Amino acid sequence: MRPAIAPSVLTFPHADLKGPLLAMQDAGVDLIHLDVMDGQFVPPITFGDGLAKSVVGIVDLPVEAHLMIETPEKQIDAFAKAGCFRLIAHVEATVHSHRLMQQIKDAGMEAGIAINPGTPVEAIMPILTLVDLVLVMTVNPGYGGQKFLPECLEKVQKIRHLRPEVFIEVDGGIEPLTIKRAQDAGANLFVVGSYLQKPASIQEAVEVLEKSCGYVR
Ligand code: DX5
Ligand code: ZN
Repeated sequence: MRPAIAPSVLTFPHADLKGPLLAMQDAGVDLIHLDVMDGQFVPPITFGDGLAKSVVGIVDLPVEAHLMIETPEKQIDAFAKAGCFRLIAHVEATVHSHRLMQQIKDAGMEAGIAINPGTPVEAIMPILTLVDLVLVMTVNPGYGGQKFLPECLEKVQKIRHLRPEVFIEVDGGIEPLTIKRAQDAGANLFVVGSYLQKPASIQEAVEVLEKSCGYVR
């Protein structure tokens, strides 16, 4: 089956994203993944709804925002207005994950919940039937280019068993070997950051990843 690929622009120069974004689109990716960091929930600061709005204006693809921020509830309207189709927030960043997911949906977006490597599946159990997507972090959030943590795949298997139809996205350290392991565990959406810059072109990177999952164009 063709794996759905969500490129992250994190490791590309943020002031010069048009070229990489159009190359991602030409390579046939499914959507764009934006890593929003606030310098609190994770050490780096990246960008906010302003950049999301620009990205939405450049590509003809759905754009999702992965909020690695404290008080994510304060950003829902801004990212909805920016044109994001899905907002993903961390369960560790709120004591009101149930209300947060509802608020994201009420704002007209799909709702995703993310869990860090140190967070068990039990933390999201009560909202599993409410969310459109679960993002299982396969590195600790904050930086691109980190090593994949295979122990996180047990959580992917558990979630897949509990909710056969939910989108399960994995994020961090995805390259040709790890994408296959994540797919076998039950993930069906793959965030890819630094690996996109390893082969000669973004197109080639996407094709290699697809091939690892048994799909040849
Ligand atoms: C990490 C981010 C990821 C990151 C993935 O905190 O959430 O989306 O950009 O980058 P790679 O694929 O390099 O691990
Ligand atoms: Zn991410």
